[in-house]
Amino acid sequence: MKELGVIGLGVMGRNLVLNLGDKGIRVSVYNKTKEKMYDFIKDEVKGQSVLGFDSLEEFVSSLERPRKILLMIKAGEAVDSMIGQLLPLLEKGDLILDGGNTHFKDTAGRVDFLKGKGIHYIGLGVSGGEEGARNGPSLMPGGSKEAYFLVEDILLSIAAKTDSGPCCTLVGEGAAGHFVKMVHNGIEYAMMEGIAESYDIMRKILKLSPVEISEVFENWNEGELNSYLIEITGKILKYKEKGTERFMVDLILDKAGQKGTGKWTAESAFDLGIPAPTLSTAVEARVLSFFKEERQFLSKRFNRNYPKLEYGKDEVIRNLRESLLFVFFNAFVQGLWVIQGASKEYGYQVQLSEVLRIWKGGCIIRAQLLDFLREILQELDGEKLILKSDKALKYLMDRIEAIKEVTRLAKDFYIPVFAHNTALDFFFSMMEENLPANLIQAQRDFFGAHTFQRVDREGTFHINWE
Ligand code: 6PG
Repeated sequence: MKELGVIGLGVMGRNLVLNLGDKGIRVSVYNKTKEKMYDFIKDEVKGQSVLGFDSLEEFVSSLERPRKILLMIKAGEAVDSMIGQLLPLLEKGDLILDGGNTHFKDTAGRVDFLKGKGIHYIGLGVSGGEEGARNGPSLMPGGSKEAYFLVEDILLSIAAKTDSGPCCTLVGEGAAGHFVKMVHNGIEYAMMEGIAESYDIMRKILKLSPVEISEVFENWNEGELNSYLIEITGKILKYKEKGTERFMVDLILDKAGQKGTGKWTAESAFDLGIPAPTLSTAVEARVLSFFKEERQFLSKRFNRNYPKLEYGKDEVIRNLRESLLFVFFNAFVQGLWVIQGASKEYGYQVQLSEVLRIWKGGCIIRAQLLDFLREILQELDGEKLILKSDKALKYLMDRIEAIKEVTRLAKDFYIPVFAHNTALDFFFSMMEENLPANLIQAQRDFFGAHTFQRVDREGTFHINWE
């Protein structure tokens, strides 16, 4: 009998199965397109205990009870349809896991629906792409403890390992796993945008070649900025098209795609009323990038009056490094705040420091900074807003002049830096006792009688302003 069933043999599914097999876990697989399943078993399975089935009935019967089935299929209707096909074949106490990038609200609905049928359900965030799935992803399961314990050993064995243990923990109740994975992606978008802005400044203002910028990123990766995204950026920038001297990055059209998880993070932040401007602006920047034709047309009509660069190259690069740390730090502050808000709203009971721990390896946003953030959270002792820690404030204050310089420089040279600007404005706003929201309240009351509160008296007020 097999310990785990996996449905869906796309890139992620196939690599996870091979990873499971390497850890000695006996796996049954099923795929809608039978040929793909046969090819996989024939060509890729080498010595692992993996068996393929072309009927769902036989696939389910091959599994030990309680059955554990991992869905690695496209998020959305396909998941509901598969659950519908599986239900008549399952028994009370069996478990389904969804390892896709599913919207957390869909997962919440499925948890409830299946609970009524006695079937456990885990929304499993999986990060690390192809490579991570094969050699150790970061796993973010969410659901009941009872459900998690059924697969804990399996998940721990395939997860990435760091000096803080395997990158897997039950992140919380209900749809917490998919929520945390979604925010992981929101932070991923912000970090990528911040990196892209540094690159843009280096190529346009410092006029560095891709390989020179690659060296800067390689150097940054040796220090505090050490992270997967900085590492791959270094590799990307020096990559030349095979057989030519052309840098691949220069040949790629500047339209950034997206599958939706960044947008969902921004939407969730709005829904929860938590400010996450650096995460949402990164989505905005990708959307804007798609207007290539308009940008081409307009760029020819915009006269730029470039100033003389007043700093040396090394100074600019130093400032860029410090500002990028400022951006990364704020992206994490905002993302963790959103998770905290959701945990409260939906009763997830997420342990933020555990989330940071399992992001240390395997996932796309793994970064040295995570250890520092964990240290801060541990010291805050229950208070979750990282900015309230003296250590966090010092860290940001130490970099404030650098990011002020970088945003100023970007403006002088007409370069958009959404992530840098919002990180700085988020920080300024959070450090400001008096925001101009009083005027906005007055305007709302003027035209819509929306009322306002006063600083000197309790109550709700309205004025006839004219
Ligand atoms: C990961 C990635 C992965 C995927 C995202 C990004 O954690 O392994 O986040 O889930 O690459 O969906 O996709 P988009 O940039 O296309 O939204």
